[in-house]
Amino acid sequence: MHRRDFIKNGCAACLSFTVSSALLSSCVATKYISGDLGKDGLTISKDEFKVAQKGGTAYSSFIIIRNDALQYPICLYRFNDGEYSALWMKCSHQGAELQASGDVLQCPAHGSEFNNKGVVTNGPAGTNLRTFPVTINNNEIFIDLRKQS
Ligand code: FES
Repeated sequence: MHRRDFIKNGCAACLSFTVSSALLSSCVATKYISGDLGKDGLTISKDEFKVAQKGGTAYSSFIIIRNDALQYPICLYRFNDGEYSALWMKCSHQGAELQASGDVLQCPAHGSEFNNKGVVTNGPAGTNLRTFPVTINNNEIFIDLRKQS
């Protein structure tokens, strides 16, 4: 094989591997649930984060709670079995509904971005997202909607 063909074929193989890896990691579908809405907040089972996978249990990094009684969805991030963050998916700039993409919430209106704790990482938004206190009780996650943290 000539040097030029070797380089060409090698780059094609690398590109193919990179593209397929990116496609595989982006194939995990976003999960939407409505949760169990009580008078003080939402209750969600920890099991909602479980993802069926060959040879063990995997967990989604986030799920989206979309409930008809709420004006905006809530993005619930899982950091580990006992640590979660609940973020109101309303952009703090002008109120557009945010879109979750991995560990980032993006605003389709003017491009603001927030991390998985609700902190602004890219403007024009100048304030962090509204977040809600999360408590764990055995296998249940409770999102307190009465107050924001
Ligand atoms: S409404 Fe989100 S950046 Fe303007």
